[in-house]
Amino acid sequence: MYVCSCFGVTEQQVKKHAADGACTPRQIASACKAGTDCGGCVRRIQALLGRGDCSRRDHVEGRTPPAGVPATLGGRGTRLADAA
Ligand code: FES
Repeated sequence: MYVCSCFGVTEQQVKKHAADGACTPRQIASACKAGTDCGGCVRRIQALLGRGDCSRRDHVEGRTPPAGVPATLGGRGTRLADAA
C-alpha cells in the first residue's frame, strides 16, 4: 500500500527505512523523499513510526537509553535525535 503517492513510496519502504534507523518523518524524507512535496503523507508516516517500526531502541518510547547516553535524554516520549 502506498504511503506517499507523490513519490510512490510504500508502507514497506517506510518500514525498511525505519528498520535501518530513520526514526522521524524528516529522516524518512531524507531516505526516500516521502513527505517533501504536498506533505499529505506526513501523518501516515508519523503513524507508522509511532507503531514502533523504528529499530533503534533508544528512540522507542519508554525504553532505556543505550550505555553512555544520559538517562534524562531517554525518558518517556523523548527522541534522542530531536533532543540533540
Ligand atoms: S503524498 Fe507524500 S509528499 Fe505528497
